[in-house]
Amino acid sequence: MTPEAVILPRDLPLWRDALPYLDVRNNDAHTVVAYGLARMLLEQTPGADESVVLPAILLHDVGWKRIDPDLLLLAIGRNPTRKDLVRDHEVFGAEIARDILLRHRPEGVDIDAVLAIIDGHDTTREARSLNDAVVKDADKGWRATPHGMKTISGWYDTDILETVETLERVSNPHMLTPAGRAFAEGMCAAVRAEAQIDHYMRMKSDA
Ligand SMILES: [Fe+2]
Ligand SMILES: [Fe+2]
Repeated sequence: MTPEAVILPRDLPLWRDALPYLDVRNNDAHTVVAYGLARMLLEQTPGADESVVLPAILLHDVGWKRIDPDLLLLAIGRNPTRKDLVRDHEVFGAEIARDILLRHRPEGVDIDAVLAIIDGHDTTREARSLNDAVVKDADKGWRATPHGMKTISGWYDTDILETVETLERVSNPHMLTPAGRAFAEGMCAAVRAEAQIDHYMRMKSDA
C-alpha cells in the first residue's frame, strides 16, 4: 500500500530548496512531521488557510542553518542563555524563506503572510492570527508526536514519561487551537496509560 503523500505537490519545490537549510539537529525530520500535523490541524480548524499555513510550517526553521552550531544548545534546551539566537533564527529564516518563495512564487500563496508568520513563530507566544495559531501548534505539537517524544527524550537522555511530564507542564498549556490542545493532551494521556499496561495486566485473576 502506498501511503498518501504528506507534502502537497505545490510545496515540493519549496521543500527541495529548504532541505539544505534543514540539516541542523533534527529540523528536516521535525519539519516533515510538523507539516503532517499542520494538515490535520487545518482540517480541524475552520477558517485557517492552508496556502499560508503549509508553506510557513515547511520553511519556519530554515534560519537555524545560519546560527553557529556550537551555540545551538545555548539557544534552546533546558536553561537557555542565548535567547537572542532564537530571534536571530526567525529573522534569518524569513530572509531565506523570502528567497525561496520568490524563486518559485507558488500559485495562490500570499508570500508576505507566510513571512510574517515565520518572523516571530517562536518569540511570540500568543496567536497573531488563526493561521499563526495553527503553525505554532503544528510546531510545538510536534513535541507530543511519537517522533517528537523520541527525539526530545534522546536530546536530554530522559525516559519518555519524564518527557510527557515536561510537555504537560510547560508545553501543552500553550497550545492555541482546540484541535492542537486536544492532540497534545491526548498523546500524553495515551503514553501515560501505555506505561501502565503491564501493571494492570498483572491483575488478571488466575481463577
Ligand atoms: Fe523555530
Ligand atoms: Fe520548529
